[in-house]
Formats: sequence, C-alpha cells, structure tokens
Amino acid sequence: MTAPAKRTLLVTSALPYANGAPHLGHLVEYVQTDIWVRFQRMRGHDCLFIWASDAHGTPIMLKARQEGITPEQLIERVGGEQRRDFGEFDISYDNFHTTHSDENREVTYEIYRRLVAGGHIRRETIVQAYDEQAKMFLPDRYVRGTCPRCGALDQYGDSCEVCGATYTPADLLHAVSVVSGTAPVQKQSEHLFFKLGDFEPMLRAWTGGDRLQSAVTAKLGEWFDAGLRDWDISRDEPYFGFEIPGETGKYFYVWLDAPIGYLSSLLQYCRRTGRDFDQYWKPDSAAEVYHFIGKDIVYFHTLFWPAVLVGAGYRPPTAVFAHGFLTVNGLKMSKSRGTLISARTWLDHLPAEYLRYYFASRLGDGVEDLDLNLDDFVAKVNSDIVGKLVNIASRCAGFIARGSAGRLAPALADTALQDEFAAAGERVAALYEGRDLAGAMREIMALTDRANLYIDQQKPWLMAKDPARATAVQAVCTQGLNLFRVLAIYLKPVMPRLAAGAEKFLGLPSQAWTDAATPLLDTAINAYEPLATRVDPAAVKALLAASAESLKPADVPAVTAELSIDDFMKVDLRIARIDSAELVEGADKLLRLGVDLGELGTRQIFAGIRSAYEPSQLVGRLTVVVANLAPRKMRFGLSEGMVLAAGPGGQEIFLLSPDAGATPGMKVK
Ligand code: 2FM
Ligand code: ZN
Repeated sequence: MTAPAKRTLLVTSALPYANGAPHLGHLVEYVQTDIWVRFQRMRGHDCLFIWASDAHGTPIMLKARQEGITPEQLIERVGGEQRRDFGEFDISYDNFHTTHSDENREVTYEIYRRLVAGGHIRRETIVQAYDEQAKMFLPDRYVRGTCPRCGALDQYGDSCEVCGATYTPADLLHAVSVVSGTAPVQKQSEHLFFKLGDFEPMLRAWTGGDRLQSAVTAKLGEWFDAGLRDWDISRDEPYFGFEIPGETGKYFYVWLDAPIGYLSSLLQYCRRTGRDFDQYWKPDSAAEVYHFIGKDIVYFHTLFWPAVLVGAGYRPPTAVFAHGFLTVNGLKMSKSRGTLISARTWLDHLPAEYLRYYFASRLGDGVEDLDLNLDDFVAKVNSDIVGKLVNIASRCAGFIARGSAGRLAPALADTALQDEFAAAGERVAALYEGRDLAGAMREIMALTDRANLYIDQQKPWLMAKDPARATAVQAVCTQGLNLFRVLAIYLKPVMPRLAAGAEKFLGLPSQAWTDAATPLLDTAINAYEPLATRVDPAAVKALLAASAESLKPADVPAVTAELSIDDFMKVDLRIARIDSAELVEGADKLLRLGVDLGELGTRQIFAGIRSAYEPSQLVGRLTVVVANLAPRKMRFGLSEGMVLAAGPGGQEIFLLSPDAGATPGMKVK
C-alpha cells in the first residue's frame, strides 16, 4: 500500500455561542468534524482542528446583564464548560479560543480596513425598532406583538409562527420590546453595508465547482436568483462586540467577526507553536481549509464568508460541509419533553463514545436530519460494539492467554482473509474521506460479521479440547485477534478510547491507518480486560429523567400582569365539542375548527395548533374555549372564539380536556 501524499488541512466546526452549555444537537457537528479530523491524522496528514467560542452579540450582552456579571465573565465561564464537555467527548481540537480576543480584534480590523480600501463598504440610513427605556435598538427577535396577517398574539418581529408570514417589527400590531416591555418607536440610524453584489462573479465561480453538497448548491441557485443583497455589518451601541474604527458608537455585527474567529484562533495557535499562519490563508495557499457547519448557517458560510475573505485578500475555503439537525426519538429536541439533552447530562449517564458511534452510523454526507432513537441506540451499541466487535477479542483472548502463554502465533491461519481485511482499508478510507460515515460503519460492521463467522466456523473451543491441536488453536485465535486489530484501526476515528484499549491489550503503540496492512505475529499480548460493556436501558431512562428535571422554573414564562376577580369573571369559558377540523389553505400553522357549544350553538374558530395535531385526531373530542371573545376577522374568515391549550408551541401544544361527564356548552368555573 503506498502512503497517500501528505496534505496540510485546516478544519473547523462552527463556533458555539458563549451563552449556553452544549447539547447533543451541537455534538452532532463536533463529533462529525472530530471523526474526520482524526481520520485525516491517522492517514498521516497534517490536520489542525481550530475552534473558538462565538462571544459577541445582543443575546450574550443581555444574558450577562441578567446574571449580573460582565460579558467577559460569562464567556470565561461558558468557555470553561465548553472545553470540559468537548474534552470528555474526545473532540480533539488543537485550539479553542474566543472571538472576544486581541487576535480577533486585530484580524477583524485588518479585514475591515482592506474591505474599505477595496471600496466594498457603503453607508445607508435605516429605520429600526428602538427601545427608549432600555436605550437600545432592538434586533427583530427582541420585538413581539400581534401578527399583522392572521392576528396571532405574541409573535416575533420577523415572522409569525402561526401563519408563516414574514415582515419587519414595524408591521407588528401592539409591538412590545422584550427587553423592557415598553412599545418600541421607529428610529433612524446610519449603518455600514458590505457590498456582497461586488463578489457575485467570484461567488458563482466558487460555488459552481464540486466543493458544495448538491442540496446546498440548489439553495444557492435560489439565492442567486433572488439577487444578492448588501449585508448590514454594523450595530449601534449598546452592543457587545468590537467598536468599528473611525465610527462613534458603532460595533461590528457578531456575524462579521464570528467566522474571522477561524483565522484569529489559528493566529493565536501559530504564535504559540511557531507555525506559519500565512501558509493557510494566503491567496495561493496549498493548504486545504474546511468548515463543518449546520444547514441553518449555509448563507453566512457560502456567500458572506468567501466574499469577505476574498475581498480582504485571503483565499476562500476549499469546501463547506453542512449537516442536518438532530431529533431525539423522532421529535425536535425540547426542554419540556426532556429531549433537550445537554452534553453534560449525557456524560453523567452514558459513555461519550457510544454516542459517537451512533452518530457515525447515522451520518451521511448530505444535509438530511438525523434521529437519535434511544431504543435503537441501545440495541445498536449492544449488538454492534459489544455483541459483535468486542466479542471477537474476548472469544480469542482466553485461548491465547491459557494455551499459548499469551503469545501470538508466528503465522496466520488464513492469510487470504487477512488480505481481504487489509484491502477493505481503502474502501473504508474513501467513505470517511467523503464523510459517508454511515457507509464506513456499515462496511466495518460487515467485516465484523465476517470475522465472527470465521471464528464460528473454526470453533477454537472445540479444537482446544484436543491437546494435539494447540498450534492450530493459536493460529486461529491469532487470526481472530488480527482481524479485530484491523477493525479497531478502522473504527479508531470514531471510537478512539476503544481503539486505545485494543492497542493496550495487543501491546501496540498508537496505530495509524497503514498499520492495518501488516499482521501482528509472534509477539506477547496482554491480559484481556473488557473493552466495552452493554448499555443498560435504565441508564437511558435516567438520562431522560435528568434532562426533564433540567427544566428549571426560570424556563417557565413568568406570570403576566394581575387580573381582578371581576375581570376574570368576564371570561366565559365553555366546554366545546370539536365537530370538524380542517387545514387552512395559505396558513400552514392554522386549523379551522367547527365547535359545538351546546346552548350557545356552533362556532368557527381558527386555532394555531396545526403543528401539534392532525385534524383527524381532533374530531369528536371535548375541549375548553373562550366563548365570549370578540369575533376576529382573519384573512381566512371569522374566528369566533379561542381554544385553550398549554405549552410553548410547535409540536408541544396540549389542548385542555375535561373529565368524563362534561358536555358541550357547560360553563367552566
Ligand atoms: O449559529 C451559531 O451557533 C454561530 N455561533 C456559529 C458561528 S460559526 C462562525 F461563523 F463563527
Ligand atoms: Zn400570522
């Protein structure tokens, strides 16, 4: 086997925000990146994994304020948690810095200076929601109010979760600032814009090659068709970020300096280690640069980012790899269902490496979402890793220890089989290289089955009954352990701990990919200690229970303004029977309900519950409605009441149901 030419690679995961502990949704990406990086290193390449926390922006500023600490203290604390959790998940990053650093300021200023010099920055006065009490401009998500299209209450300033309309905060009815609770005003301010359009030819060429996944290329086609709009890169004070040189009270928008963290963290690393920074980012660099990201931030990484880099005289990335979102047991992760599992909670209950294996077995090279089905997780780990893989070693180890004084045979029993396993190395490597981790895991498990079949056929336990066959037993078990060794090497990017355990057992130094080609013969091995143990389903139950408990009172919205008993008595709550439920054309979050209120007759009610219920689930059931709400004229017709439901929204909407005996029209008191 000839060693592939040595490459120089720089790999990143998206920079996690510095305001919260990592959860399993984040881990998908970090595990995916780490597996790829470990694979490249095992192949002998020079591969750096450079990372940082994304420390700027309004949410971090407000979170620190809420906790009564400085943003710097928050970044420091969260950074510590991130490093600790990532370390325990065996994410082998070379550097974890922060975007709130001297290096990032230095590189951001230099990039901005070059963009200005290149004529790529322009000014424009815009009008924005402003909170006069908090004395700050409000990002769209910090304004809530009534949807101007469907009338749904308490919607964000950029889009309605009920009818899907998109708009600006100025369009919201009864808008309120999330920061102070007061009504925002509209205020002018001059902003700086990056002229993305200047880079259209370059971006079309850069995105046109095979560096992006097909789904991403398709999305880019839509964005090009819609026209590239200039990008607002400034924010007014108060803002936590870098002040813009030459301006007063203006800061760079977090998304400008966040990806620059890829450069500045590398800069810090190079200064510390004496590496050459320029070899990575100069325009004609021979190094390869790869960004692993979630599919939600593709626009930033395939349009803004390459344009900013090229505009500032750097090279664009070699490729950007997007992945899908994680669901748990088929559902979006949510706190109240106990499926928003933090990295920490996982580590408290289950081995990190088992999750790494499960993610690998579910991750292809595309942007499809992946599901962590916990029953499947238990079954898969117990079957593949414990039942099949580790079983090979444990079946053979005893015979070598007892029958051959812990020494492997001088020759294999079946060299052709060993050659087959060695030859599979390039197939498995190609799958890793192309990020088809699920394909690589299938290939490795097929080989694992083959190894077990070999042992089943040879039956060393029967051979060992005949002392005359001791040499044959040693040869067969040497063969089994050599097959196991090859499998441990192929699986090492995914399960580095298990691989390290296998190396220790076989008395080997850290193995590289090419080591799989040379059999291990005529050498002493160590006593076998179990390399993996079965997952107890009780641990999974405890994991879910612990995740549900992490729903602290602070996560439940505070009670709103007090109401007098007289006011409350004005609300006429009634039992209603849902007689019909239909989808509403043009409003994918709404259902049109026909309800029977007994003596009050029938009503039509539009309810924003489509995300949680199929119409057929509702027909015939009893629930509670506000019967004396003034009818509201909506685009789809008149809504004559309101159904009552609990929960934060999305799939978590829970209609109220009366006990048996209640009948339509009964007053609820
Ligand atoms: O979406 C996010 O979580 C961002 N913090 C990712 C930033 S990636 C890079 F641009 F810094
Ligand atoms: Zn709406």
